[in-house]
Amino acid sequence: MKSDKTPVIVVNLKTYLQGTGEKAVTIAKACRDVAERYNVGIAVAPQFCDIYRVASQVDVPVYSQHIDGIGAGSHTGQILAQCVKDAGAVGTLINHSERRLTLADIDYSVKAANEAGLYTIVCTNNVETSASAASLGPDYVAIEPPELIGTGVPVSSADPQVVKGSVDAVKNINSDVKVLCGAGISKGEDLKAALDLGSAGVLLASGIVKAEDPEKALEHLVSQI
Ligand code: G3P
Repeated sequence: MKSDKTPVIVVNLKTYLQGTGEKAVTIAKACRDVAERYNVGIAVAPQFCDIYRVASQVDVPVYSQHIDGIGAGSHTGQILAQCVKDAGAVGTLINHSERRLTLADIDYSVKAANEAGLYTIVCTNNVETSASAASLGPDYVAIEPPELIGTGVPVSSADPQVVKGSVDAVKNINSDVKVLCGAGISKGEDLKAALDLGSAGVLLASGIVKAEDPEKALEHLVSQI
């Protein structure tokens, strides 16, 4: 989703959901419906085993949570970009703080994703790594201070400088790369603050996936834009 709709919202399901993938489909439908109702770009990043089920049942941009910088061949246990694409994904997260890679591996993964026609969101932890990530030419850089992830304390108010600093640093390196921010984001005011800091949107997880009513939580998230 190199969405021309702003903001861009990516809901990362991580490994929160067990069962047969039906819960992932339910959240994906909520993303689709709220995106349509509010004319915003919302994507969902399910676990690998749910990519095909979500992409085939719901008209919503689906992102993988990771791909490896490999081609077809003897790479047991690794994730092939073309397979993720064939399963219906349109993009992938790379280097999420819970799936950290070396800079060289990030480069290989971005190249493999580009080859497969997948959009790329490279996750970073500070301004310096945001600048380094931008030099690899992803579609998005997502700045997420790991210490705020899962806390409900939004990065857009807890550490606005890391967001603004990443926006400026990325722009200086490659103005085609858009910046998302994540960690602790859950409310409408968090998204508004993120946009006011120059980001194109947010990456979030627990505020939606662990919500009593994920669709209501998504509506609240987009309520102030
Ligand atoms: O990928 C986004 C995620 O790391 C943020 O987590 O639970 O703070 O929204 P959370």
